[in-house]
Amino acid sequence: MAKHFLLLNLIALSFCCAVLAFESSPMQDFCVADLASTGTVNGLACKDPKSVISEDFFFGGLHLAGNTSNTFGSKVTRVNATKIPGLNTLGISLARVDYAPWGVNPPHTHPRATEIFTVLAGSLQVGFVSSNPENRHITKVLKKGDVFVFPIGLVHYQRNVGYGNAVAVAALSSQNPGVISIANVVFESEPAIATDILAKAFQVDETVVAQIQSKF
Ligand SMILES: *[C@@H]1O[C@H](CO)[C@@H](O)[C@H](O)[C@H]1NC(C)=O
Ligand SMILES: *[C@@H]1O[C@H](CO)[C@@H](O)[C@H](O)[C@H]1NC(C)=O
Repeated sequence: MAKHFLLLNLIALSFCCAVLAFESSPMQDFCVADLASTGTVNGLACKDPKSVISEDFFFGGLHLAGNTSNTFGSKVTRVNATKIPGLNTLGISLARVDYAPWGVNPPHTHPRATEIFTVLAGSLQVGFVSSNPENRHITKVLKKGDVFVFPIGLVHYQRNVGYGNAVAVAALSSQNPGVISIANVVFESEPAIATDILAKAFQVDETVVAQIQSKF
């Protein structure tokens, strides 16, 4: 009995540490990305620590608004290891999001990151939806200074519900969070998912699917 317990503990422990070793436990103080290297590791190759300078840990420019003149009326400006080489392997990154009045950051998910989202200006309705079978929609209207969390992997969105522009900063728990935009993966895949599959999935006529596909 005790032996089994020990074994189970060991198995649990090995799971814990295999997970922790992934991205969140660097093997050196820093691994400033060598953007010129073509080496592929889980992240970017490190440059010689002796050649590291303060600029490697710095990015200036997040005061600049993104251009929201597009279909969605929103713009995501990412700050990751490409812009701050010193972020490499540290397991975090950042984005500034700008919204025109009624602008939308359409439903999407980050497969590798939880997001903690801070409103700097304006008023945003935000929401995420839990997985099957509940599909519970958790939504709230945020104002300047409010902070909201989008749990890893869950589909979420934001919409500007104020009168002026809105700005937010999103911190993400991965240096490469990934983005899966729901509409794009469903209707814009290359090659396309068969129309009859989508017609069944969405319980609409195939012509409706074709009409949506034509917008992408
Ligand atoms: C913003 O984007 C639009 C559409 O791509 C473009 O026409 C416009 O020149 C851009 N504005 C600025 C300030 O870059
Ligand atoms: C940083 O983001 C840009 C723009 O989305 C992307 O092209 C690039 O691959 C990212 N860099 C890293 C190191 O993940």
